[in-house]
Amino acid sequence: MSTQEQTPAAAAGQCPVAHGRKPARGSRMPGIAQLYLGLRHTIGFSRWSQRRFGDVHVAKAFPMGKSVYIADPELVAAIFAGPHDTLHAGVTNGIFLKAIFGERGILSVDGEEHTQTRKALMPPFRGKAINGYADIMREETERRIASWKVGDEIKMVDEARAITLEVILRTVFGAVSGPQMDELRTAVTKASEITLVGSTWMVFPQLGKIPPWRSFDRLIARTNELLDAFIEERRGASDLDERTDTLSLLVRSSGKDNEWLRNQLMSLVGAGHETTTTSLAWAMELLSRHPAVREKARTSDDSYLDAVVNETLRMRTVLPGVGRKTSRSIELGGYTFGKGTMLNPQLEAIHNDPKIWGDPEVFRPERFLDRKLATNEFIPYGGGKRRCIGALFAHKEMVVALRTILDAMDFEHVGPAAEKHKHSHVTMAPAKGGLIRRTR
Ligand code: HEM
Repeated sequence: MSTQEQTPAAAAGQCPVAHGRKPARGSRMPGIAQLYLGLRHTIGFSRWSQRRFGDVHVAKAFPMGKSVYIADPELVAAIFAGPHDTLHAGVTNGIFLKAIFGERGILSVDGEEHTQTRKALMPPFRGKAINGYADIMREETERRIASWKVGDEIKMVDEARAITLEVILRTVFGAVSGPQMDELRTAVTKASEITLVGSTWMVFPQLGKIPPWRSFDRLIARTNELLDAFIEERRGASDLDERTDTLSLLVRSSGKDNEWLRNQLMSLVGAGHETTTTSLAWAMELLSRHPAVREKARTSDDSYLDAVVNETLRMRTVLPGVGRKTSRSIELGGYTFGKGTMLNPQLEAIHNDPKIWGDPEVFRPERFLDRKLATNEFIPYGGGKRRCIGALFAHKEMVVALRTILDAMDFEHVGPAAEKHKHSHVTMAPAKGGLIRRTR
């Protein structure tokens, strides 16, 4: 049920949660300190806040202001199933992403525009199409493996980035050779390396006029020129009707202008590349420290690798949370949220909650084979009408890459202990880059 009215608390600028099933409290630290802790010590700060203030609590992080952090699967389920015209993700995603992905990119839009954009982008990422990409995924993994020598230390984040970038470029653009594609490849890699300081430019694009942010601004401007050239070339291609890459499909079927196409291309390449990179690097880091799981993965069929990938995404959830902003007051799961409330379902906290998983710190893929999961206990791809459109694609890519690596070689962990998390642009990456050593 929802009402049009703001709650008195929200209207008074107080805690945006009116009284419901559980009271929500939050830290009184200044927003800038909470932003710092949230970015620098994401997991530790999240755990501390959850322990101290509960599964549903309010925190404030500059520049978004107050948000409700939610690690209660039932409430998260209600949010994901909630009305699309009231719970908006584009407005929150856009804060950080529109400078790179564009104002009209799927991640930054809401309402009818989002529904139509999603409809246009979905076909190449549906189940039927996915198997067609397996050869590309295998070839790109084999290409990287060929450069790893026995005894070498390998930084998996860099290797996984090279694999996933080529895979998504080939899927989205088709052929990927030539100087313009090389320049685009470099630009996309640079954009995904934007650091903590650099990312302030995403929130305040006006910074683009002064160094060091000016270089990001120029990077995006040049990337747009390159994308325009690809789009124009494709519009005039004699084989447009036979081509199966995403760009050709969109040029053929969407009838949209260059800016819209550019924004979607950048969104697909950006969203589809860094997330899969860090997830694959974590899978290798975890397998390198668990020889028995590695051996079982090598000798079992792909259903066990499916479980390895899921267990990786659970334990090392690369996007710790997602956002929704209410456009009117709404009741969900026994709470009333006022108009303009930022809701942050905490995927990572749910995946590592002992109340749900018993021993969340143990890497045990079997848990995905042994138990039936309840709704929204396992949500690495978010949910509802904003659920990741690349979920099947990413899962397939990780399974194919791991199978190709396990068939070709063996490896071990480098260093005495498990790698910690590091905030790398928008994802949580292994702090040392997922270092492994090839042993065979
Ligand atoms: C392991 C890899 C990946 C993870 C963990 C991941 C995770 C996510 C998450 C959490 C969201 C937000 C969902 C929400 O707000 O409820 C999302 C959205 C999205 N992802 Fe992924 N993703 C991955 C790979 C990919 C790939 C390979 C692609 C593209 C081929 C992709 C394209 C997108 C797009 C376009 C959206 C926006 C959907 C929308 O707003 O409707 N992702 N992803």
